[in-house]
Amino acid sequence: MAHSVARASATLGLTHPANLETYKILFSAKDTDVAEWKGDLLAVGVTEKDLEKDENSRFHNVILQKIDAQLNGLLGEASSEEDFNGKARQAVVLRIPGINSKRVGLFGLGQSASNAIAFKSLGEAVAAAAKTARASAVAVLLASLEGLSAESKLSAASAIATGTVLGAHDDNRYKSESKESVLKSVDVLGFGNGPEIEQKLKYAEYLSSGIIFGRELVNSPANVLTPEVLAQEALDIASQYSDVISARILDAEQCKQLKMGSYLGVAAASANPPHFIHLCYKPPGEPAKVKLALVGKGLTFDSGGYNIKTGPGCLIELMKFDMGGSAAVLGAAKAIAQIKPPGVETHFIVAACENMISGTGMRPGDIVTASNGKTIEVNNTDAEGRLTLADALIYACNQGVEKVVDLATLTGACIVALGPSIAGVFTPNDDLFQEVFAASELSGEKLWRMPLEESYWETMKSGVADMVNTGGRPGGAITAALFLKQFVDEKVQWMHIDIAGPVWNDTKKAATGFGVSTLVEWVLKNSSA
Ligand code: BES
Ligand code: MN
Ligand code: ZN
Repeated sequence: MAHSVARASATLGLTHPANLETYKILFSAKDTDVAEWKGDLLAVGVTEKDLEKDENSRFHNVILQKIDAQLNGLLGEASSEEDFNGKARQAVVLRIPGINSKRVGLFGLGQSASNAIAFKSLGEAVAAAAKTARASAVAVLLASLEGLSAESKLSAASAIATGTVLGAHDDNRYKSESKESVLKSVDVLGFGNGPEIEQKLKYAEYLSSGIIFGRELVNSPANVLTPEVLAQEALDIASQYSDVISARILDAEQCKQLKMGSYLGVAAASANPPHFIHLCYKPPGEPAKVKLALVGKGLTFDSGGYNIKTGPGCLIELMKFDMGGSAAVLGAAKAIAQIKPPGVETHFIVAACENMISGTGMRPGDIVTASNGKTIEVNNTDAEGRLTLADALIYACNQGVEKVVDLATLTGACIVALGPSIAGVFTPNDDLFQEVFAASELSGEKLWRMPLEESYWETMKSGVADMVNTGGRPGGAITAALFLKQFVDEKVQWMHIDIAGPVWNDTKKAATGFGVSTLVEWVLKNSSA
């Protein structure tokens, strides 16, 4: 990320992100006995049931018994004294002699640990504890693997690994000083060893690198991450993984030749010219059987335009995150390029630009013409994302793909409907919904299906053009989705995901990387491996 930003010409405000070493955590699957393991922190994931004790404060669980035997019952005592009962997000970490590991920690998983969210959170909690303890060598295990099939054991291990990498990562590129990360190695115990689990841990490493890349793109401010820099980032992926990824970047002139009037209308006010990004992943070896497209909204900044964002709660100061859809798509590209799934060709498409105000910009009431010839009366310049996506979706459908998924920080209305951590999903296709929803269960990202209520299209009728770009406030996320549908080829299966809420973590004041892992899981589902 930092490389190309540094290459870009004079940045407004003279800010240059530090080119910090992307440090790696080494994951290994081992069968070391818990009592023998040597290191800084032995972290045990425990459910409420695992913590059941007999009348002498002795654990029923075999693993906990074993550790506690070495500690003369201290772990059992401490966990009772501290009122630790294995609830999710509870933890006790003890620094004690008597065992090979410097520290032992119990991390609550709740009543039962069976989903990706629980395992990811465990990884994050372990990373947080490692940070506090300045632990460099860590081991993670579950007190019981009961009820987990061989398949879900592997997924659990990779979810823990992904959570650990993400939890350990701090984006310090824009700070003048940054602490070095200490966590170096994580041994994953009790999940078996051998090529299958090693491959899963590799997968977690690739996926996390895509998620971190996506987060860094979103965290970067709009004075640094212009459409040009975003395009440069995409080109960097293509050159780093040139065995499987090719790139095509269209400038404003080329977009004009393709008649992308809707997208260019949005870009018209900005001093930073638009860049249309198209990456293509082709699997090595055998030609692909399935072709997919991922389309991401890429507004590097959204001022609202003449319908400028004003007033408290409009979040104009956060509108650097309006390229979160494109960050998810490019993050997925980075992960896929490393995983190299067979049998599935994937296109990554972003109509990147900035929504600004100037004499050359679009006025409210202007009529723009999209590349499929449809005309749009722009009754609100702040409904710009859908205008850029219109031309991006038409372009995607022209790539001969069977399925298109778009991600966009599209509407405040979707945040009103679903809150900050759930994305809204819109699709006329039940099969595609099932596929992507199943992918989201593996990734632990929360999706909720919303209706594509055709009768609401009434509010999108224009007196002079084919449609307006904004309906009323009611059902705002739905009318936005209906607008996008006008630009999708009927022969192509399509889904729109509104990520306006989950793109950003308000508590951490940072990007989440939302979307990357669901997209990667979905592409893998479409792979023939
Ligand atoms: N990027 C915004 C949507 C948004 C708003 C995302 C707040 C996250 C937080 C989008 O371009 C926008 O401005 N949408 C308008 C649409 C309206 C004018 C129909 C909105 O949601 O207010
Ligand atoms: Mn807007
Ligand atoms: Zn926007």
